[in-house]
Amino acid sequence: MIAVDPLSEDAEQRQLFSDWLDVETTSQRDVFGPDHSAWSADEVRGRRRGSTHQFTDRAAVGEGGRVVGMLSVAEPLHDNHELALVKLSVLPTARRRGVGRLLLAEAESVVRAHGRALVQASTEGSRTGVDGPGDAFAASQGYEPAQTMLRSVMPLPADRHKLESYADGDGVEDAAAFAVEASWDGVPEAWLDDLAVLEQRMSTDAPMGDLALEEEDWDAERVRSELQWALDAGRRLVVVVARDLSVDRLVGFTQVQVSQDSPEVAYQQDTLVLTEARGNGLGLRMKARAALELMDELPGVAGVRTWNADDNTHMLAVNADLGYEPGAYLREWQKRL
Ligand SMILES: CC(C)(COP(=O)(O)OP(=O)(O)OC[C@H]1O[C@@H](n2cnc3c(N)ncnc32)[C@H](O)[C@@H]1OP(=O)(O)O)[C@@H](O)C(=O)NCCC(=O)NCCS
Repeated sequence: MIAVDPLSEDAEQRQLFSDWLDVETTSQRDVFGPDHSAWSADEVRGRRRGSTHQFTDRAAVGEGGRVVGMLSVAEPLHDNHELALVKLSVLPTARRRGVGRLLLAEAESVVRAHGRALVQASTEGSRTGVDGPGDAFAASQGYEPAQTMLRSVMPLPADRHKLESYADGDGVEDAAAFAVEASWDGVPEAWLDDLAVLEQRMSTDAPMGDLALEEEDWDAERVRSELQWALDAGRRLVVVVARDLSVDRLVGFTQVQVSQDSPEVAYQQDTLVLTEARGNGLGLRMKARAALELMDELPGVAGVRTWNADDNTHMLAVNADLGYEPGAYLREWQKRL
């Protein structure tokens, strides 16, 4: 097992980092083919430069010095001080030889050494109802399934007329009480405080299944740096908000990002409408506006990919209206050490 430093400029470390990342990409391709969601090297490095988590990265090396397994432990620094998020993959050709077990034991020992006690990890499969390669492994290592997310895709371009009607809130009583606004590749300073409130509420108000997560701690600076690292890593991004015109405050937001390494796919990030503003069709209005923004600004995007809790009936209904179709799944597992 060797320590990996994604930010090192040393030639040997750079090669190690590339091989380490390749294990994850190969693993993702094994399940999803070209529709995988693995991050690029620039994105991983960008994330490491961000300050919200502390990372520990390890590579498992097999015969001939070949990297056969990758591990990454992310520990939130601002909140959730008991929690560690573990990612691990083993090359399909090196599985069922105990490498995964070794990597997970290493992860748990890092977590313990850092005084943390709650480990969460995720597994993915290309079809709901058919387990992917990680589920039996996670269960065999004492992890409990805590939440299942459905991965859906909205094909683009979509019916512009229909999207415009949704975005305008046609047929919604009180639609004129709210404005839906969009901002590309960064947000106005004046949005930051309201977005911090929305992000913090996202951490408590979105369905979480059995995941033991605490409220996150957000401020304007954290909102700014979360957008900045993605921009620095070459992503394009659009934030769409809903403004309550009676009090001039943002009461909802959604965000979509597009990686420069996969310009044909947009990734839907968080979406939230404050509890007190729900029932005004704002989720649909904002997501429709985001889809229109993508069609105009990035016409090469062929679809928006999103993950939603399988019990989030409201969001799933909004997505169905927009043309999202579920296919794959992501399952969150957790274990208390
Ligand atoms: C999950 C993964 C890391 C396991 O790696 P691995 O090196 O094959 O795992 P191990 O050989 O250490 O397996 C340990 C035990 O897990 C269980 N297990 C692992 N894969 C299994 C499978 N496909 N079917 C049933 N049981 C499995 C077995 O009990 C196994 O012990 P055994 O081989 O003595 O029967 C690998 O399949 C992978 O990279 N999957 C894709 C990424 C992923 O899902 N990561 C999240 C993991 S929480």
